[in-house]
Amino acid sequence: MDNLLKELETDLKSVTNEQSLNEIKTKYLGKKGSITELSSKIKDLPNEEKKEFGANLNKLKTEANNLIDAKKEAIETENLNKKLASESIDISLPSTKIPMGSPNIVEKIVEEVEELLMSMGYDVVDGPEVEKDEYNFEMLNLPKGHPARDAQDTFYLKGEELLLRSQTSPVQVRTMLEGKGEKPIRMICPGKTYRRDNDDATHSHQFMQIEGLLVDKNVSLSDLKGTFDVIAKHLFGETCETRFRPSYYPFTEPSVETDISCHACHGKGCSICKNTGWITVSGAGMVHPDVLRNCGYDPKEWQGFAFGFGAERLAMIKYGIDDLRAFYMTDLRETGNFDRKEA
Ligand code: DAH
Repeated sequence: MDNLLKELETDLKSVTNEQSLNEIKTKYLGKKGSITELSSKIKDLPNEEKKEFGANLNKLKTEANNLIDAKKEAIETENLNKKLASESIDISLPSTKIPMGSPNIVEKIVEEVEELLMSMGYDVVDGPEVEKDEYNFEMLNLPKGHPARDAQDTFYLKGEELLLRSQTSPVQVRTMLEGKGEKPIRMICPGKTYRRDNDDATHSHQFMQIEGLLVDKNVSLSDLKGTFDVIAKHLFGETCETRFRPSYYPFTEPSVETDISCHACHGKGCSICKNTGWITVSGAGMVHPDVLRNCGYDPKEWQGFAFGFGAERLAMIKYGIDDLRAFYMTDLRETGNFDRKEA
């Protein structure tokens, strides 16, 4: 019996998992196990030895069971420790970075212009993206067949009376009609516009314009120049210079192209300003008398100025982005770049 217990102890030393422990248990305590089989020897013993043998055998069984149970517990503890070790959290490891969202820079430009002009008494208004031909073109002095319509290759809908607005200028018409020829107007309208352009670095079939309109009495081109100058300095800094160049739009007379001094080379000439020192940022002009009349305002009493910025263009100039498509690619690495450029 002592030998068997020693044998069991030796066997248990090499056991590392529950499966081999069970095998050992069967080897000693199973139906045909070496300890169990000792019971069959009782009947061959002389009667006076039977009792002692039986008691020793029970003791052996209890000790064997205790050894096996202790081993079982040791294996379980070890397994648990291993599991805990593998699942433990190393709080000294750097954490996974969660990328921060950042404002869309076209929206940022729009908000900057909105804030400035609201502080000058302008209302921010909205207009529909599906627009009437009448408001997008006809009332703006662009009757059907007018050659200047070609410059805005338009998405027509439903028998050509409806279209996706090709400019935000129809919101001028809507606002003037609401003013009923009586109310002075100061409004800006930022909004999406659509043209049948092939997308490339400087064209997009959908882009954002910021329209502005002021209608009042005694308004002159110098008011437009002053307003444009304030906007340009607000967006591009106090050193930003502005200039007007004569241009043509059917709904303004006179019409101008508005330029800002190139912020990259400060007017010396570089690739951004194509060596001119100037960058064009909007079309503008005095509201054409016919447009005022079409919309119920008597041009003898009322005058107005209007302007239309391309919002992406402003963002491209401000943040040094050379491809318009970056705004629509939803590539977050690009968005990150905008932020870095700003910083
Ligand atoms: N709507 C013009 C365009 O999309 C831009 C523009 C020019 C707007 C002159 C104006 C303006 O309000 O007065 O090309």
